[in-house]
Amino acid sequence: MYQKIKGTEDLYGGEMKYWYWIEERARKLSLLYGFTEIRTPIFEDTKLFVRSVGQDTDIVQKEMYTFEDKGGRSITLRPEGTAPVVRAFVENGLITQGFPQKYFYIGPMFRYERPQSGRQRQFHQFGAEIFGSPSALADAELIAFVDRFLRDIGLVDFEIHINTLGDAEDRANYRQALREYYAQHLENLCDDCKARYERNPLRLLDCKVDVQYAEQAPKLIDYIGDSARKHYEELKSLLDALGIKYVEDPRLVRGLDYYNRTVFEVHHRRLGAMSAIAGGGRYDNLIKEIGGKDVPALGFAAGMERLILAIKAENVHVDDVKINEVYIAHFGGEEVKIEAMKLAQQLRREGIAVNLEIMERGLSAQLKNAARTGAKLCIIIGENEIEQDIVLVKNMETGQQLEFEKDFVVSGIKDLLAELE
Ligand code: HAM
Repeated sequence: MYQKIKGTEDLYGGEMKYWYWIEERARKLSLLYGFTEIRTPIFEDTKLFVRSVGQDTDIVQKEMYTFEDKGGRSITLRPEGTAPVVRAFVENGLITQGFPQKYFYIGPMFRYERPQSGRQRQFHQFGAEIFGSPSALADAELIAFVDRFLRDIGLVDFEIHINTLGDAEDRANYRQALREYYAQHLENLCDDCKARYERNPLRLLDCKVDVQYAEQAPKLIDYIGDSARKHYEELKSLLDALGIKYVEDPRLVRGLDYYNRTVFEVHHRRLGAMSAIAGGGRYDNLIKEIGGKDVPALGFAAGMERLILAIKAENVHVDDVKINEVYIAHFGGEEVKIEAMKLAQQLRREGIAVNLEIMERGLSAQLKNAARTGAKLCIIIGENEIEQDIVLVKNMETGQQLEFEKDFVVSGIKDLLAELE
């Protein structure tokens, strides 16, 4: 027997309604907000991620699924969606087609992390990117979009954390200050932090072990220049004006290197350790960095599996997927089978979900199957019914059986289903 790879999931059955629920709302809302869909390949040139996500990040250092293909190229399964979308934007010349441009995507991502509840090696993101606007208005629109999306799928118990990382030189100064401060504590730091001190000092603030040092550390906000500070103030006042609640989180730095200025993360209060259901921010230098022009940009991504955990934690009512309203049972010769098939097609054309018996079992086995698959009504057709130009319709809940003349069966079924709604 084969087993699925650790950290992956098979999705089917009763779980699918959550995926439909979220994906339908994500698509609809994206279009309402002026985002169009972009689908990029699941694998890319490894260098794309090293360059954009950052050589010293956990993702690049430890988490990428990288392999050599048969042509000797280094390929990586995408660990996130932003770098591929930026690559596509530059490569396909979209960059010359006027601004802003807004794209969304839904799809699988891959990270070699230790699996636990809310953390897989293959997971799925719904994300969106905005290209071209340097304005705080774009940041506010994006955060408003995320807030609206989370509410649309039924969530209320979440917190939007925001921070500003300032501009490149602000961060360089701050990195220097952090190194000086942490130098005194270096011996006492955990191994991860010792490595972070060398490679990526901003991430020292993120450590779950050495929390006490982070509390006393210099504050990023004290190193932010005037222009980035003004941008941040404007974002906050726009969010205030829109009535969107947020928490300022001066230690929020995010795990990817491409960010500048605004960063944000949404945490769900009922999710424990893996509580980040979405994250994003501005990345004004990335497009230039990977071969394009100087185009400001920003975006976010939400983790679908975590959204589902949050929906369950909040007991959100999620509609069942309509797969089997009517079961058609039949028994008899060729003529009966054809009649049953024709009726199935006719009902489906009317938008009614129909399961047609295709196993050619005895009637009682068919009725059992109708019940097992959750049909609301079961149509029964045999030689007698064909002779009399009628069909029998059984209400699966009450057991009540009705007779319809063939010409009225579609309208009759529609009425019955409407009553059962
Ligand atoms: P990220 O914070 O790395 O950002 O991921 C976004 C979300 O994906 C997280 O908040 C989490 O919900 C989900 N996620 C990440 N890793 C896992 C995992 N191993 N298992 C389950 N869920 C996970 C990005 O990926 C950026 N590209 C977001 C962005 C778009 N920034 C600008 N534009």
